[in-house]
Amino acid sequence: MRKPQKTGAGRRRFERPRSPEGAGCATPPLCWREEVERVLITEEQIAQRVRSLSAELSRDFAGRELAVVAVLNGTVMFLADLIRHLSLPMRLDFIGISSYGLGTEPGEIVFTKELRLDVRGRDVLLVDDILDTGKTLSRVVARLRELKPRCIKICVLLEKAARRVEKVRADYVGFSIPDLFVVGYGLDFAERYRNLPFVGVLHRSVVNSPKSVI
Ligand code: IMP
Ligand code: MG
Repeated sequence: MRKPQKTGAGRRRFERPRSPEGAGCATPPLCWREEVERVLITEEQIAQRVRSLSAELSRDFAGRELAVVAVLNGTVMFLADLIRHLSLPMRLDFIGISSYGLGTEPGEIVFTKELRLDVRGRDVLLVDDILDTGKTLSRVVARLRELKPRCIKICVLLEKAARRVEKVRADYVGFSIPDLFVVGYGLDFAERYRNLPFVGVLHRSVVNSPKSVI
């Protein structure tokens, strides 16, 4: 039985994805063009990277059973794609935390769903959509530690290193992105745009005047 590697073993940093039209400037599909200014990471780039993250996790945790803990709601697409290719036994539960109101700046952090899975003595893989200031994940990690897991590894689709204020680092990172507010592939703005199959940047006019409250 192989032990998972120590913190940081699976950590990979990737350059901002490039597109034929230049770095991070792919044109959004027609149906989204009014709201989305540009595609930062294409559907194909996401699929390829998530596949390789699954393979890496399968290797690093070979012989172990994972307790996957996903943060609601932004992980929905990433999680589904990530775990479908894991060749490991695993159990899954969700933890609910809300850190944004309706804007793009962090607000008060509130737990909206507690974990029910017993993670004591288990290898926990904490999955989140994006590591930004780190305030959310540092709160979640503190809460998980109280449950005495064997280890906690963090896997995020995106990371904005420039915005970090808390001392928290991800062991597995899909893409490192610049300091931009992004939507799609689970990530929202005022609860919208989670269904975009790509990660994109909204037009400033949309960010400045969201359609309506939820
Ligand atoms: P943090 O606590 O500042 O690290 O923020 C983490 C949470 O903020 C994520 O789980 C997201 O829900 C949200 N978030 C941070 N940056 C973005 C973004 O660019 N787009 C959408 N949501 C974001
Ligand atoms: Mg969010």
